Amino acid sequence: MEAKLGNYSKSIIYEEAGKFEETRFEKKHNVIFSNSTEGSIKVAIEIADLIRAKKSKGETCVLGLATGSSPIKVYEELVRMHNEEGLSFSNVVTFNLDEYYPMTKNNIQSYHYFMHEHLFNHVDIAPENIHIPDGTVDASELHQYCVNYEAEIDKRGGIDLQLLGIGRTGHIGFNEPGSHFNSETRSITLDYITRADAAPSFLGIDNVPKKAITMGIKTVRKAKRIILLAWGQNKASIVKKTIEGNISSKVPATYLQHHKNTTFILDIEAASELTRINTPWLVSTCNWDEKLRSKAIIWLCKKTGKSILKLIDEDYNNNGMSSLLAVEGSSYDLNIKMFNKVQHTITGWPGGKPNADDTSRPERAIPTKKRVLIFSPHPDDDVISMGGTFDRLVSQGHEVHIAYQTSGNIAVSDYEALKFAEVSKEMRCNKDNSYITTIIEQIKSKNENSIDTVEVRKLKGIIRQRESLAATRYLGVSDENVHFLNLPFYETGGIKKNPLGKEDIKIMCEIIEDIKPHQIYAAGDLADPHGTHRVSLNALFNALENLKKKPFMNDCWVWLYRGAWQEWEIHEIDMAVPMSPDQVLRKRKAIFFHQSQKDGVMFQGNDIREFWMRAEDRNTKTAQKYNELGLADYAAMEAFVRWYY
Ligand code: F6R
Repeated sequence: MEAKLGNYSKSIIYEEAGKFEETRFEKKHNVIFSNSTEGSIKVAIEIADLIRAKKSKGETCVLGLATGSSPIKVYEELVRMHNEEGLSFSNVVTFNLDEYYPMTKNNIQSYHYFMHEHLFNHVDIAPENIHIPDGTVDASELHQYCVNYEAEIDKRGGIDLQLLGIGRTGHIGFNEPGSHFNSETRSITLDYITRADAAPSFLGIDNVPKKAITMGIKTVRKAKRIILLAWGQNKASIVKKTIEGNISSKVPATYLQHHKNTTFILDIEAASELTRINTPWLVSTCNWDEKLRSKAIIWLCKKTGKSILKLIDEDYNNNGMSSLLAVEGSSYDLNIKMFNKVQHTITGWPGGKPNADDTSRPERAIPTKKRVLIFSPHPDDDVISMGGTFDRLVSQGHEVHIAYQTSGNIAVSDYEALKFAEVSKEMRCNKDNSYITTIIEQIKSKNENSIDTVEVRKLKGIIRQRESLAATRYLGVSDENVHFLNLPFYETGGIKKNPLGKEDIKIMCEIIEDIKPHQIYAAGDLADPHGTHRVSLNALFNALENLKKKPFMNDCWVWLYRGAWQEWEIHEIDMAVPMSPDQVLRKRKAIFFHQSQKDGVMFQGNDIREFWMRAEDRNTKTAQKYNELGLADYAAMEAFVRWYY
């Protein structure tokens, strides 16, 4: 069954769940778009239409607004419509959902700052029509302040359209698990997961406020129309719970199931765990292509606790897969084909096995010595994500180049930078050390809102370069094969990066043209907290597009690994490289050279383990999953998907 994707040209029409939904599992109307940009534009159109319709009747339009990453493109599009299509906000009144507490208005992390930066500063809204909970209100007055906020919404006629994001705890606004169905605007203690998700922007979880002011569930429910936005893999699990689960205070967003006019706008990644997308054979007839077959059979093994070769007809028939059985004839044939397919993904020769029949191997035997270019978004993803394969490629005699796409400078703590600056100063003894003294002063005088100076960023970048060189030397790569690209999109000094520019793509094209690789490895990881991996991957895709007609590209295969936050699903894997226990230790040691990322890493998301622990755990689990399917029992495995460009 095809996922019903939102149609770009149609407007979003609300359909009541239970009456129109194609699957018995879904309890909330949702529309899935192929990407967040398309979804955001659709939502912006609905908002603009409402503003205009109200204006033509001489009415004000009351909008409930959200912050966070989800609505950014909606605001971008509204600003564009204001600039290019004359959309006026003169009849618009806004109420924001929430604000951290305590929080000053000019703090760059405040929602006050966010809203002005992304929307209010760029449109013609009257300042007196803007309402954002005030994070500076004295604690003794907070209760009354919240009562007044609620009353002000009612006084303005109630919210016509409420925009929401969803937190991984299932919060809407900051209504964390446990919130009451009838809650109104109030102060609330934030969940740990919410604070961990906010930690990157605050440069560490310790800086994230513990409390917030938020509109309540009832406040949100009173809105005439609600649109909830969710983008990306990170949201997939909570989206499933919210749309398919029972209403519960443990997932406050499920309260929206009671609301008569709510639509969830999703991209395909956020929708990926919905039953009709993830396991379509359970809800409908399927078009059994290769990919879906693999996915279904591996799912069936997990569901039944059996290895591939032990599945029987009954297992297929009882789990919505009888049509697959009908196509193939018998479980025996299906099982053998699937087993061979998975078996053929395993290779100890990631660069191809010389002088061997390669018809059922993931890589070509020829040329026997390949030029390999490993792209690493940050200076450490190479060893974290594919350290074992990297090691094999070098030891099997290939010409291995590493290209670090970004400097990774913002992930070096001030303590670490200060340590190196002081060492450097002391080494200079009586010589002129004014430059390094300036750097030391700059680090020491940093305050909560300031970004690093260019000099401090340079120092932090050098620290990461030297750590990388230590690791690549350990794995046997000579320094001239290590390339630091310092892509400009990353160099803002802050968490928010610039959009990908021509210069980024030019740099990527140059290195590929220069090396003319037979193999490119790159991070296909779409879930890193700051989006740097995603942008780095887009930089590669753009470069491949520019270069693909060049003759040398006919010989260039692209393999995607996943970063520290995610692993490929078994059915997606095209090449699995096993590691012995000794190789696991070598990989660990290579990761250890990245000392600035050890012991209290700055940007770890909500997983408190260090990168080497996560990498080992992930590689061990991949090996276990292969073993559970009935394949050989390896200590660990790294996984790759081939990208066809
Ligand atoms: C923000 C808000 C929150 C966010 C949610 C998702 O005003 O109310 O509920 O919508 O935490 O945040 P992002 O969009 O950053 O994933």
